[in-house]
Amino acid sequence: MSEREQRTSEAIETWNFVFPNQSNPYGNMFGGELLAIMDSTAALAAIRYSGKTVSTASVERVIFKRPIFVGDRIKTVAKVVLVGSSSMMVRTDVFVDKGGDEGDVLSTTAHFTLVAFDEDRNPVAVPELIIETDKERKHFELAEQIKSHVGRREGRIKHVVEKWK
Ligand SMILES: CC(C)(COP(=O)(O)OP(=O)(O)OC[C@H]1O[C@@H](n2cnc3c(N)ncnc32)[C@H](O)[C@@H]1OP(=O)(O)O)[C@@H](O)C(=O)NCCC(=O)NCCS
Repeated sequence: MSEREQRTSEAIETWNFVFPNQSNPYGNMFGGELLAIMDSTAALAAIRYSGKTVSTASVERVIFKRPIFVGDRIKTVAKVVLVGSSSMMVRTDVFVDKGGDEGDVLSTTAHFTLVAFDEDRNPVAVPELIIETDKERKHFELAEQIKSHVGRREGRIKHVVEKWK
């Protein structure tokens, strides 16, 4: 039997400038536009980690903590923080680059779950995650809590979840 590969995960960073067509009439960036950027950055992190084709299965704990405005420079950072068999949970944070002394200000956080596929679109095993730093341990434990919370929530509404299968 072949051993499952193990590896560390690497943070993927994308940068964007916020344009007027991405915002409401008051200059505040649309949440959906931001989620699209976060989703594609999370996918890049999952592809880089697994070396496979991936698809987003769900998004949990989207927290829009601070608004983003037209003209802001935003940095999106995504990293695999927890893996299952074929699934990867990717913590994705968006920072506004304020420049000067203020630096990066955290605006939005979400946890995306992506599934790796083979050529026939069957879920396929991803490497086991090696956790090295205290920060990685903290993010892994938070992701575990989110996953377990989702499991309990879906258990409570099993009759609804079943209808989706
Ligand atoms: C995601 C998808 C492949 C899961 O298919 P499925 O038949 O439920 O697959 P499986 O039951 O074999 O589960 C595969 C893995 O996905 C995970 N998974 C499935 N549905 C999930 C959900 N809603 N949330 C989180 N994880 C999920 C399972 O827990 C399993 O993880 P594991 O291998 O680490 O244990 C399927 O629902 C799909 O293709 N969805 C559409 C994806 C899409 O179009 N995304 C948007 C564009 S990228």
